[in-house]
Amino acid sequence: MIELRDVCFSYGDGFSLRNICLRIERGSFVLLVGANGSGKTTLLKILAGLLPIHSGSVRLDGRLVGSEELRELSCYVFHNPFDQIVGSTVEEDIAFGLENLGLNRNCIRNKVDRALRMFNLLEKSSANPLTLSGGTAQKLAVASMYVLEPEVFLLDEPTSMLDDLGVEELKEALSELKKLGKTIIISTHEPRVFFELATSVVHMVDGGVDFHGSVNAFIERQFGDVEL
Ligand SMILES: Nc1ncnc2c1ncn2[C@@H]1O[C@H](COP(=O)(O)OP(=O)(O)OP(=O)(O)O)[C@@H](O)[C@H]1O
Ligand SMILES: [Mg+2]
Repeated sequence: MIELRDVCFSYGDGFSLRNICLRIERGSFVLLVGANGSGKTTLLKILAGLLPIHSGSVRLDGRLVGSEELRELSCYVFHNPFDQIVGSTVEEDIAFGLENLGLNRNCIRNKVDRALRMFNLLEKSSANPLTLSGGTAQKLAVASMYVLEPEVFLLDEPTSMLDDLGVEELKEALSELKKLGKTIIISTHEPRVFFELATSVVHMVDGGVDFHGSVNAFIERQFGDVEL
């Protein structure tokens, strides 16, 4: 379980995160929602260990952790999957991080094959990633992270560049991760597309957490009795 206590963060001019208190259970699927500038990306980057906290604490199963440990625990998927491509084929892209770890060829082959199958990318294994649709590229970004075996997947606006089909492809990949018990946190302006997968919603306002509760409680709070 990840716990943030009174976490504050500033880019230098005022605070972008204010006294964030949040508990995220292992295996949960959390939607991070809120207006532009409310702090969603900043919070994801803190959880990814890409930004240091200004004050407060982050604990993992009760133990204090710093940015380095968060970087080992989690991965951050950018909203534009094409920004994350490093290989000239789909399988090379998935293998890249494993090669950097210095694993042997057989081991890399096995892990890449498993990821290709799991994310339904086998047919595309020799394709140039730059020719993929947005949805397939987003699945590739997730697959390339998956092989590195992070516990936590942080996705920043993953649907912003996807059409309906792409969104379905991404959801397919995320439900595989969910089945494995991975923790998934998604910043989104389109929470509805993830309601069926999500276990909770965090609503941010002005750098603070305004609400954290179940999807149903969120829907009721936001929309009352309006049918979605
Ligand atoms: N690199 C930066 N330097 C200075 N201020 C920043 C930087 N990035 C974000 N901010 C500020 O921090 C606050 C939170 O921004 P953040 O990007 O985390 O919001 P967000 O909820 O992700 O917004 P959006 O929905 O537009 O992606 C905003 O006031 C923003 O202007
Ligand atoms: Mg953002």
